[in-house]
Amino acid sequence: MSKRAVIAGWSHSPFGKLDDPDTESLMARVSGAALAHAGLSAGAVDGIYVGVMNGGFQKQDFQGALVALSQPELAYVPATRLENACATGSAALYAAMDFIESGRGRVALVVGAEKMTSRPNAEIGDILLNASYRKEEAGIDGGFAGVFGRIATAYFERYGDQSESLARIAAKNHKNAVDNPYAQIRKDLGFDFCNTVSDKNPYVAAPLRRTDCSPVSDGAAALVLASEDMVGDLRRAIRFRARQQVNDFLPLSRRDPTAFEGAARAWRAALAAGKVSLDDLSLVETHDCFTVAELIEYEAMGLAAPGEGRKVVLEGLTAKDGRLPVNPSGGLKAKGHPVGATGVSLHVMACLQLMGEAQGMQIPGAALAGVFNMGGAAVANYVSILERAK
Ligand code: COA
Repeated sequence: MSKRAVIAGWSHSPFGKLDDPDTESLMARVSGAALAHAGLSAGAVDGIYVGVMNGGFQKQDFQGALVALSQPELAYVPATRLENACATGSAALYAAMDFIESGRGRVALVVGAEKMTSRPNAEIGDILLNASYRKEEAGIDGGFAGVFGRIATAYFERYGDQSESLARIAAKNHKNAVDNPYAQIRKDLGFDFCNTVSDKNPYVAAPLRRTDCSPVSDGAAALVLASEDMVGDLRRAIRFRARQQVNDFLPLSRRDPTAFEGAARAWRAALAAGKVSLDDLSLVETHDCFTVAELIEYEAMGLAAPGEGRKVVLEGLTAKDGRLPVNPSGGLKAKGHPVGATGVSLHVMACLQLMGEAQGMQIPGAALAGVFNMGGAAVANYVSILERAK
């Protein structure tokens, strides 16, 4: 009997500055809704996997135990929280898949959430630095943006100023997000605005401007996983053609910051395991916490040689109507980046595409979707390749 896990249903809250006071409230928005979407009752759930980074956003920890507060039928179901920086959501998802694939359960609920906006900016920046190597990087100005400011500086020093390419990536993703009902920023800001330093687009961590950063966000997303032998009874099913996690050294000083080696290895391993090439993919949802991350990820996934990511942008290859649309959802850049929810959200966006339910975001005929989620600056790297099973 097959024990592979499929995605059977999902739910996604809007991302942005939300009235929900905490992750308990955010998780309540999506937990029951995902089960209803899958057509499964809470009584069918064998395991709950929660992704919340926290790290100081909220005093309340132990967040695996919060899901059952809004779903009392889940009170006696084993619940576990995972944390892997900005890849926390994928860590929860992959643990749930391991649970099903080991045969210990047939249905799992995965919930990712983060409440970030209740903290002042300086505190948020410091909390996010938990995803860096504090011994060496705690003093970096600008919080986590400062870490990526350093990466961008190193990249510019080696390959020349790429500010214009970064602005093109920002403009692409902002334009795409106009059609995403869940997105935090639904404004087509345009290339000129993104490429000009101004009062409305200041440097956050030079050379990165505000439009080169993902925003600070609240939000939640959930997935219901089921054993593949249940597909006949499910309303919808998305299967993993492949999934890979590859880690890299945490300190920037231990690696080349201009190349995401862990991400490249994860992509190569996932494409090989799935027996596909990039040419077979209909779209990619990738982790653009900063525009320079998307640029370097083009190179890591194999779309361009090192230092040549700018050609991908210039040629419009990753535009919505390009050869390989990247971030048709608007990406973290415009959709928002509630860190614990992001890994789950990336997979939900891919599922919508594969089911043909992405409405204005839809890539016609989407058949195979790549997802890349990373924790820290390409430290914990997750690549999923998804296809429709029903
Ligand atoms: N991109 C584009 N526009 C943004 C934005 C972003 N990232 N963040 C805020 N804005 C817009 C707001 O919508 C608002 O627009 P309006 O004046 O038209 O209403 C305006 O900028 C001011 O918003 P505000 O929230 O006051 O901005 P801010 O200067 O306090 O914060 C950042 C902007 C970039 C500093 C903040 O979003 C940030 O810290 N981002 C990085 C978060 C991070 O590190 N995440 C982890 C990544 S791994």
